[in-house]
Formats: sequence, structure tokens, C-alpha cells
Amino acid sequence: MVKKRACVFISGSGTNLREIIRSSRDYSFPVKVCLVVSNNKKAKGIIFAKKFSIPFICISTSKYKFEKTILKKLFEYKIDIICLAGFMKILSKKFIRNFKGKIINIHPSLLPKYKGLNTFQRALKSNEKLTGCTVHFVNEKLDSGKIIIKKKVNIYKDDNIETLKKKVQFEEYRAYSSAIRKIYNLN
Ligand code: GRF
Repeated sequence: MVKKRACVFISGSGTNLREIIRSSRDYSFPVKVCLVVSNNKKAKGIIFAKKFSIPFICISTSKYKFEKTILKKLFEYKIDIICLAGFMKILSKKFIRNFKGKIINIHPSLLPKYKGLNTFQRALKSNEKLTGCTVHFVNEKLDSGKIIIKKKVNIYKDDNIETLKKKVQFEEYRAYSSAIRKIYNLN
């Protein structure tokens, strides 16, 4: 099987990156992580790129410079799909148009509910009984592209931001790999 070439964008702890890399080590998984991009030099997740000998780039400059540099690298590495995993910068419309239908993101809520930040806090405040995560295509509007997969998580009375985050992240790891398989018709 010829694997598609993925680039994962991160800004922080990179645990989703770690899980995508783990999945990609299976010969039947449709993508190989060929490049990791971080907009934050201190992102802990870079450790996973190093651990698995994956080339990585850290650029914490202006959006314009960041995108210009990254775009070159994406072509150089012949990247087929970009996976945003805890990437905290909003990409420009121009950048997104360049990779139309080839950028996916993971969001910690059941979209279309709770787009944007502080999703756990907002779900708890609204007394939701259910939350979860969503993997979706990225379009020009924040957290609004076509949904690929959602995974639900129950919210119990004694849950707080931390417990909820832990439960949702656990589901995220499965969701991201399933979504990638689904995109390439392997589910
Ligand atoms: C995840 O919870 C994801 O939903 C959100 O940012 C978090 C990233 O975590 N977009 P990590 O960097 O993958 O550990």
C-alpha cells in the first residue's frame, strides 16, 4: 500500500500527534507522518517527532512568514494531508484554499456545539450531559467544515474541566485515527 504523506501541525503537548504516529506504524494505516510543524518552539510535542525521527520545523514568526515558509516545506515534502492537532494558530483563507479538502482538525466538543475555545468549561456551565470530540475538514470558517467523525463522552455530576479533558482526549486519540482511515475509505 502506498501511504499518503501527512504533516501534523501542533502547538502544545502533541498527544494527538503521538497517537497518529503510533497508528501510522501499522502497515495498513493509510498515512505516514512525514513532517511535523509547530508554531511554538517550546511545544512539548516536538519530542514525539524527535523520538520517531520525523523531520520537524518550529516557526514562531508572523502568520505571513509562517505560512510562506511552511507552504514551501509542504510542497518539498510532497504532503497530501495536513492534520491539525492542538494547533492554536488560525490559518489564513489563502492557505486553506491552497489545501482545499486536505486539512483536517480535531476539536474538543460535539460540533456544531461549542466552537472555539474553553469547550469543557462551557459544556459544564451549560449542564450538558454529553460532550465529546469531532474531527472535521477545515474550511474558511472556524470549526465549521464538514464533519468526518464524532465521539461522545458522558458528563457526570462530579466531572470538572480536568476529568472531562482526560476523558475527551482519550476519545480523541481513537477518533483521529478512525477519521484518517475513513477519509481513505478504510473504515
Ligand atoms: C486537543 O484536546 C484538541 O482537541 C485541541 O487541542 C488539544 C491538543 O492536545 N484542539 P495535544 O496537543 O494533542 O495533546
